Amino acid sequence: MDALTITRPDDWHLHLRDGAAMADVLPYTARQFARAIVMPNLKPPVTTTAAAQAYRERIVAALPAGLRFAPLMTLYLTDNTPAEEIRRAKASGIVHGVKLYPAGATTHSDSGVTSLARCSAALAEMEKVDLPLLIHGEVTHRHVDVFDRERFFIDEQLIPLRRDFPALRVVFEHITTREAADYVVAAAGRIGATITAHHLLYNRTRLFADAEGRTGMRPHYYCLPVLKRETHRQALLAAATGGNPRFFLGTDSAPHPKGEKESACGCAGCFTAASALEMYAMAFEEAGALDRFEGFASHHGPDFYGLPRNAAQVTLRREQWHLPAEIKFGSASLVPLAAGEPLPWKLVA
Ligand code: DOR
Ligand code: ZN
Repeated sequence: MDALTITRPDDWHLHLRDGAAMADVLPYTARQFARAIVMPNLKPPVTTTAAAQAYRERIVAALPAGLRFAPLMTLYLTDNTPAEEIRRAKASGIVHGVKLYPAGATTHSDSGVTSLARCSAALAEMEKVDLPLLIHGEVTHRHVDVFDRERFFIDEQLIPLRRDFPALRVVFEHITTREAADYVVAAAGRIGATITAHHLLYNRTRLFADAEGRTGMRPHYYCLPVLKRETHRQALLAAATGGNPRFFLGTDSAPHPKGEKESACGCAGCFTAASALEMYAMAFEEAGALDRFEGFASHHGPDFYGLPRNAAQVTLRREQWHLPAEIKFGSASLVPLAAGEPLPWKLVA
């Protein structure tokens, strides 16, 4: 197979940042995707419908002429999110989910939730008005090994949460473990999960070696939840390519200035917006499942969110190419994930 034409996909988990940096990365996503669920972890976070509306307007204003793209906004859940803010968000028609960051779990999560018990009013309202909860599923206890934090989250937080709010629509974001994939397959009720391209392509060894096995720290491969061992990657690949409509595409493309990643305390996040579909296609081809790519990339997400599937199509061609080594990012630059690696599929312009 040398060309792959599918319904135009959407990105169900994306970080765009703000200001000039946002304007620099936005065209990469808008070229690949019709819509994206835009994460609210700005500084300060997007905690109100009014702030989401204003952020949406800044994104739309930054879109280059000729690119059609719809940002789907989210709110950042805090211990103090009132039920009436949830009602406003739902009524706005522009907010499509509320993001749960356990406080301290990841980049810009310090205003996140310290205890789900403090969010009962907001969660009950979300269940009532049917506004999905998008979950960064990691416990934050310092005694829990960073590679186990997602697995612990399922038993400690997710199962009790879904017992308390059985009708709440939940997206378990950027799952990274066999346990998470198994949970999503087996769970009752309305649950979906996004899977990134990088968690389908790489295991944790890539944090410490390049594609040829040359050792050394690879900060651009560091994200949270962190890459896991190969058995987990295999489970994610099976989940993404198995045709189950609960699994759908979410890049978690998360740009950071080069200097903040290549640092003694490098921050978490991988920028994949410039090569997302190509990287997913690589993973599906590895699994011998290119025929299932369209469902994962273009059908399951809108079906879960209750939005129409896109009418347009995109085509990927078998053509080897390389990403640029760096991309302008506001006053700095960023290093895209997989820069330097040959990419065998190319999105036709
Ligand atoms: O690696 C990550 N980067 N994980 C997250 O959850 C947040 C993201 C970011 O905003 O940079
Ligand atoms: Zn994210």
